[in-house]
Amino acid sequence: MDTATFEKFRQVVYDKSGITLGPSKEALVASRVGKRMRALGLQEYGAYLDHVLQDRAGDEMVHLLDAISTNVTSFFREAEHFTFLSEVVTRWLAKGQRRFRIWSAASSTGEEPYTLAMTLLETIKEPGVDVRILATDLSTRVLRTGVAGTYDESKVKTVSPELRQKYFDCHSEGEAVRYTVKPRLARLVTFSRLNLSTPPFPMRGPFDVVFCRNVMIYFDNEVRGRLLREISGLLRPGGYLIVGHAESLAGAMLDLKVVRPSIYAKP
Ligand SMILES: C[S@@+](CC[C@H](N)C(=O)[O-])C[C@H]1O[C@@H](n2cnc3c(N)ncnc32)[C@H](O)[C@@H]1O
Repeated sequence: MDTATFEKFRQVVYDKSGITLGPSKEALVASRVGKRMRALGLQEYGAYLDHVLQDRAGDEMVHLLDAISTNVTSFFREAEHFTFLSEVVTRWLAKGQRRFRIWSAASSTGEEPYTLAMTLLETIKEPGVDVRILATDLSTRVLRTGVAGTYDESKVKTVSPELRQKYFDCHSEGEAVRYTVKPRLARLVTFSRLNLSTPPFPMRGPFDVVFCRNVMIYFDNEVRGRLLREISGLLRPGGYLIVGHAESLAGAMLDLKVVRPSIYAKP
């Protein structure tokens, strides 16, 4: 891919998703877009870009963004965040709270929202507690995996055997062993497509806790600032925003205050 064409891809991806592709991403974009071009029988990157821009329904844009986004995730990734969630929910339960709304704002293939669901089910022992987890992502491909809730054996390695048995059904597909989330876990989670770079969002909130981890690293300060303002508006007073360990929100935090690195509270 020549530099001018890469620049055009960069601009389109930024405009549509807020994702900033650094110059080092040229080879990655070429290889990922190349796969899609082969599927369509197109030879030139420029021709593919025209195809994306001419598709009024926007379906090809969805394919392009699916190809560009990095979806790495795992169950119990950055496990301290789930310990923290369990602690605050225990505190809120003791104060009489019986309704919990949690948002996994870049849910990828579902490991994060299902880990949230397991954490809540393990924490809440009282009957009659109303729990809902909203899981959103830009990529329709990852959302499909989340809705299906079926994972290879290698993916569930970070779930303890006890929780695996409690919350997953194990089945064989040929040689492979696969795990599907049980209905009691699946029914807590609703998956929906949402572009974090284009607030305002349709949800009314308020949320008790928002997990927005390992996605803001792809955004520049402008997109990040806009997103943080929107998240802050959707959090209830006393609620929390949790970001990835590698993410610094220094300077962009507005009215949220740091509780500890990567955890912020709405006063
Ligand atoms: C690296 S994964 C993080 C998954 C999970 N939060 C975690 O920490 O394990 C980043 C996710 O952000 C999503 N993403 C990227 N840009 C987005 C945008 N503008 N709106 C919503 N999701 C986006 C990608 O599709 C991808 O699934």
